[in-house]
Amino acid sequence: MTPEEAHLYALVHDGAPGDVEFYRTVTADAGRVLELGCGWGRVASQLACGEVVGLESDPGMRAVGASRGFTPVEGDMRSFDLGTFDFVIIPFTGIYCLLSEDDLLACLRSVRAALAPEGRLVFDAYAADRFHEDSLPEDYPDDLLELVAEIEHAGEPLLVYERSTWDKDAQRVDAHYVYEREHGGEVIAEIEIGHRYLLSETLEPLLARAGLSLLAMRGSFDGEPFDTETSGSLVVVACRDDAGALEA
Ligand SMILES: C[S@@+](CC[C@H](N)C(=O)[O-])C[C@H]1O[C@@H](n2cnc3c(N)ncnc32)[C@H](O)[C@@H]1O
Repeated sequence: MTPEEAHLYALVHDGAPGDVEFYRTVTADAGRVLELGCGWGRVASQLACGEVVGLESDPGMRAVGASRGFTPVEGDMRSFDLGTFDFVIIPFTGIYCLLSEDDLLACLRSVRAALAPEGRLVFDAYAADRFHEDSLPEDYPDDLLELVAEIEHAGEPLLVYERSTWDKDAQRVDAHYVYEREHGGEVIAEIEIGHRYLLSETLEPLLARAGLSLLAMRGSFDGEPFDTETSGSLVVVACRDDAGALEA
């Protein structure tokens, strides 16, 4: 993305309610924290721990971060070596940006290598189980542009439309955002975001293949248990699979 596109993206995707407070509380006593896919630093810049490193692959996001006083490190969450961390966090559905199982496993294995013996991986995303089971392909016609936001950018109002395509077998939702000056008017930006969502029952075995153990799967930042039928969010905590052994 260009910095302007990253700024426009961030105006629409400004986090899940309570997420900054949640990550700030969870990591408050930590020494080193790594945020993967930190964007411009919306969460990372608010943490109160000893040291925060934000990793981000998109140059536009990094530029927006730098202009706001938080400079993400350039890198790829599938392969990184930035030392050892007490927490690795992946807020706001960043883990769904990994578009294949190989990419997801590569990321989780890099997380495993980066975690201190008692370290924790914490991530959140939208819950996809119910949507995956109940939605129909016709709910996602390729030509339907829906108004999803009205924002102000550089002193002028903009309309933001979204068109999504869904591939159930691949667990892919690809969203196309169009930013217009007025309905049917000049298009000032178009942004594509691809997601490969996760089903909750696959999480534990996936984590295990990367040498991680699932500690908790919650349905909200308030700690409610995860329910495939009713939860809108998926909040996951994992540790190294040798953490128990180290404690013994
Ligand atoms: C959904 S956004 C979340 C941004 C930020 N964590 C927040 O909560 O506002 C996901 C971010 O991950 C970044 N990203 C996607 N794939 C990545 C990769 N392989 N390595 C590093 N960053 C990546 C995107 O550019 C984007 O900024």
